[in-house]
Amino acid sequence: MPPYRIVFVCLGNICRSPVAEVVMRSLVADTQLGDRVEVASAGTAEWHVGKRADSRSLDVLSRNGYDGSAHRARQFEPSWFDDYDLVLALDRSNLADLLALAAPEHRDKVRLLMSFDPSAGVTDVPDPYYGGTDGFDHALALIEGACRGVLHHVAAQTAR
Ligand code: 4NP
Repeated sequence: MPPYRIVFVCLGNICRSPVAEVVMRSLVADTQLGDRVEVASAGTAEWHVGKRADSRSLDVLSRNGYDGSAHRARQFEPSWFDDYDLVLALDRSNLADLLALAAPEHRDKVRLLMSFDPSAGVTDVPDPYYGGTDGFDHALALIEGACRGVLHHVAAQTAR
């Protein structure tokens, strides 16, 4: 069976989506799904391609027991809609950008990350780029909650 493939998408692929990628991969690794789910991330913009995650993302990850040091930023390519089963936008702006790139048959794959955690009561993981450390802590907390919801969804999708 081919792996189930998830890609998290924000604007720059240096702040939020790298955090989501690392958190999701860690959650998956703690389950039976470890070898059946692949996790990636990308940005809609090309500005930071090849760069490491923002130092504030690396910091919030390491303070919470994760390691984001392997990350290098990539730009989302429309051909990836063929490759991924779930394309998760970090905010509504990212969602709109992705839907503008997606052919009609791929639009169902494109979802807001926070829709997987209705209890959070928010739609977006706010862009923390221009703010302080607090924004990165808040982003991680939102992402951890939503990724648990994604894990349940993927477990149901891959159950045979
Ligand atoms: P991200 O944050 O989309 O969470 O990676 C941003 C990173 C860079 C910029 C904006 C947001 N920027 O304007 O360069």
